[in-house]
Amino acid sequence: MTAAALPMSLPLAGLPRSVLIHEVGARDGLQNEKATVPTAVKAEFVHRLAGAGLRTIEATSFVHPKWVPQLADAEQLMPLLEDLRGVRFPVLVPNERGLDRALALGVREVAVFGSATESFAKANLNRTVDESLAMFEPVVAKARASGATVRGYLSMCFGDPWEGPVPVAQVAGVARRLFDLGCDELSLGDTIGVATPGHVVALLEALDIPVDQIAVHFHDTYGQALSNTLAALQQGVSIVDASAGGLGGCPYAKSATGNLATEDLVWMLDGLGIETGVDLNRLTATSVWMAEQLGRPSPSRTVRALSHEE
Ligand code: HMG
Ligand code: MG
Repeated sequence: MTAAALPMSLPLAGLPRSVLIHEVGARDGLQNEKATVPTAVKAEFVHRLAGAGLRTIEATSFVHPKWVPQLADAEQLMPLLEDLRGVRFPVLVPNERGLDRALALGVREVAVFGSATESFAKANLNRTVDESLAMFEPVVAKARASGATVRGYLSMCFGDPWEGPVPVAQVAGVARRLFDLGCDELSLGDTIGVATPGHVVALLEALDIPVDQIAVHFHDTYGQALSNTLAALQQGVSIVDASAGGLGGCPYAKSATGNLATEDLVWMLDGLGIETGVDLNRLTATSVWMAEQLGRPSPSRTVRALSHEE
């Protein structure tokens, strides 16, 4: 890559000075892969992500191994990350069984994951919305009592493949209940990537939750993830989920494609002069390497553009 291939930095008023990137490539990115990715490759992926400057790297999930076979090696993966200092490794836990497995390995950050819609709650958790919140309640309490921090994910915040557009008031209601269980942070998921910026602003305005505890999690199905992110930043959000190389999808929502690519996000944030701590060259090299492991090119426009520069 040449120096000319970095964006010119020009700020835009009203945006945060820095953004915390919550990297989900190793979890959301890999959970839907058909071919099994060896544990050693996952560990190297995480090491390379950390080497590129990412400091919050969602590592894996402690879910039922039959539900997500790709992440069934959580117990084997976590010890391989112990040498990485100064990096946070949140993991997904749906229930007390998952939490106990994670805590036994010394995990300090967990995430429960609920749904704004009944259809996805059933498909993803085999529970109604009420039943899933009841399942999370002891998980959040026990995690906090153990000194772990808890992120609450809320999926289908904009549209649902079975139910269509999801009313903002419905999402705000479930968001409040999930957050009130004792979550430190709430990540708003556009699981199938159908949101547009006005919808993002409407939801953020409807939420009665401090904006510094809100993260956004956009899948990029319709190419809207970056515009939606900018709209969220303009509303004061400063935690953004993204997946290196644009990997990702949810096995229980067929129309879910990859997440917002971390490289596409960093290109925009570098251009806006917003600090992330991420080295775009090293991150792109990581995604090129991971694409080789998976045997197909990265869907990220920035990865493709920068890797063709070489
Ligand atoms: P279930 O079948 O209702 O489970 O699944 P159960 O509670 O009836 O338990 C059945 C058996 O599973 C029991 O064993 C449990 O011990 C065992 P048995 O007594 O029969 O021998 N079991 C477990 N084993 C290991 N680890 C566990 C565990 N839990 C139960 N944690 C369950 C319910 C929640 C477990 C299941 O539905 C599940 O694992 N779902 C996970 C689905 C998932 O991971 N989806 C992808 C992540 S969400 C996402 O991608 C969206 C997000 O990115 C945001 C966005 O984009 O919107 C976060
Ligand atoms: Mg997701």
